[in-house]
Amino acid sequence: MSDETDTELFEVMYNCRAMRRLKPDPVPEALLTRLIEAGNQAPSGSNRQGARWIVVQDSEQKSKLAALNKKAVDAYVGPQSGRPSELPHQSTEKRQRMLQAVLWQAEHLAEIPALIIACHQFDTPVSAGEAARAAGSVWPGIQNLLLAARALGLGAAPTTLGLVDRDAAKEVLQLPPDMEAFCLIPVGYPMGNFGPVTRQPVAETLRWDRWT
Ligand SMILES: Cc1cc2nc3c(=O)[nH]c(=O)nc-3n(C[C@H](O)[C@H](O)[C@H](O)COP(=O)(O)O)c2cc1C
Repeated sequence: MSDETDTELFEVMYNCRAMRRLKPDPVPEALLTRLIEAGNQAPSGSNRQGARWIVVQDSEQKSKLAALNKKAVDAYVGPQSGRPSELPHQSTEKRQRMLQAVLWQAEHLAEIPALIIACHQFDTPVSAGEAARAAGSVWPGIQNLLLAARALGLGAAPTTLGLVDRDAAKEVLQLPPDMEAFCLIPVGYPMGNFGPVTRQPVAETLRWDRWT
């Protein structure tokens, strides 16, 4: 890999923010397929390659998923949710801005051109606990997809609230009993600008050899 390619990869990685405000303009299916191809390159436990992708463009299907997401977002913003109003690394003002974007997305989800659902297919039906353990074989693909979207100038964000009602989501997506949905990724052309992510410095998150 050349130095130039390395630079581009890091550039994309450091500028891959959750983009929630997206235009309704359609995204060509060839681009959506490229995202899935990028997701497909990710590793999986025992190389099982159980990740499966559903690209939802149908208005009726998007509306049903938007309704599930809205219900979960309403609970998330409600007084009982336990959601912190600030974090050590995120001020109240920044969290408010994020919340506004989450609310915008909840209102407009059905207008976003594509909702990509990252799933996993098992050999047999599994319990919620067993399904959760497969997350590590789905999320690397999701991150690949997000990076590919950023590289192609598409906005995207990983979301899980719309899938909280597991049975309802499975019914909408007509998943067979051996399949589980893990993440809903709205994809479209961004309304705003791409920009750098803000993360804690490694001084906070890195220790060498042992933690204490
Ligand atoms: C496991 C997981 C679940 C998430 N669920 C949601 C969600 O349901 N709705 C949403 O708007 N964003 C969701 N996000 C996006 C996060 O809020 C976002 O990655 C985080 O705020 C950092 O944002 P930034 O990359 O723009 O800095 C989720 C992210 C992850 C990794």
